[in-house]
Amino acid sequence: MQTKTTVPLLDLKLQYESLRNEVEPMLQEICDSQYFALGPKVVELEKEIANYVGVTRAIGCASGSDALLLALMSLDVKAGDEVICPSYTFFATGGAIRRLGAVPVWADIDPVTYNITPESVKVAAQNCSRLKAIMPVHLYGQTVDMCGVLDLASELQIPVVEDAAQAIGSKDTTGAMAGSRGNIGCFSFYPTKNLGGFGDGGMVTTNDDALADRITKLRVHGGERRYYHNEVGINSRLDALQAGVLLIKLQYLEAWHAGRERNAAIYNEIFSASENCLVFPRFLQAPARHIWNQYIIRVQGDRRDALRDHLSENGIGTDIYYPVPLHEQECFADISGKPLPHTEQAALETVALPIFPELESQQVEYVANTIVDFLT
Ligand SMILES: Cc1ncc(COP(=O)(O)O)c(C=O)c1O
Repeated sequence: MQTKTTVPLLDLKLQYESLRNEVEPMLQEICDSQYFALGPKVVELEKEIANYVGVTRAIGCASGSDALLLALMSLDVKAGDEVICPSYTFFATGGAIRRLGAVPVWADIDPVTYNITPESVKVAAQNCSRLKAIMPVHLYGQTVDMCGVLDLASELQIPVVEDAAQAIGSKDTTGAMAGSRGNIGCFSFYPTKNLGGFGDGGMVTTNDDALADRITKLRVHGGERRYYHNEVGINSRLDALQAGVLLIKLQYLEAWHAGRERNAAIYNEIFSASENCLVFPRFLQAPARHIWNQYIIRVQGDRRDALRDHLSENGIGTDIYYPVPLHEQECFADISGKPLPHTEQAALETVALPIFPELESQQVEYVANTIVDFLT
């Protein structure tokens, strides 16, 4: 008989307790300086992130959603242009494209990695006449087949914007960091991310100085000098408070990745011994690296929601990323496209389990065993 444990999907208070003594004096320092928007802390964070990701330039902005928007603006994506992206992703991916009046062209996912593939991108590209970019998403913290996507992009002569919002520190099959090989990489520091701030924040990465300079300008209303604007940008400054928090947290990021990896290994071992209705994803081997922003299982035979209820009754938090794919969202109803069978099936079957690094191994075992018992 297992003892009842409460295992939330995520508990940020545990992480904060371990950082309180470092974070609070830094917050005080920024309050004393009264320097809140951009400034030296943001410049320091931009250098550290560029270094971590392995690119020459990083530009802080107000959110991951803005990072995507700024990236597309810097590539001159305009009304009527087409951008290929997944439908199985967070709303911001398609939202950024649509906000510019451009059209998201949906590519289906691979059913076991949940990422779009060079093949599905090729299919999506077939009917495009104004294709301007490809925007792959490294979903849940595992990278897209970047070699294949980059080859295709160079064949089509269009740029690649990596939505690496969930993938800071993820590595592809060549060992390169997410956000380092496309023309532009976009990161989110939303609190639930592996590197999360105390609110919203984002970062754009690139090795292209011209794009970096343009994004730096676009994030301050398109002004190169204060009050002189030769194009219309947006207001997307990163706060000094966020940069200060993120600089402290960055020092622990590798240890937190390792904690998530430990938890994932426990799930993998228990689930691989059990078949039932459970299909768990395919994970890339080293030098690729999954950073486990989410640990996802897939429950077939209409049992996903019953499993969630059962877990909830047993004190276990779960969520669904994502129950409604973007091509089925009301606001995208006017966009036509090919059927996306793998995307639609995943939306019915996937469920995210607790994976955060502060979890005790007994808690992870409890979650895994409760699932296996229910499905047996
Ligand atoms: C795949 C993906 N893209 C974009 C975003 C947008 O990031 P933000 O919430 O920081 O705006 C997120 C954040 O949840 C995301 O998961």
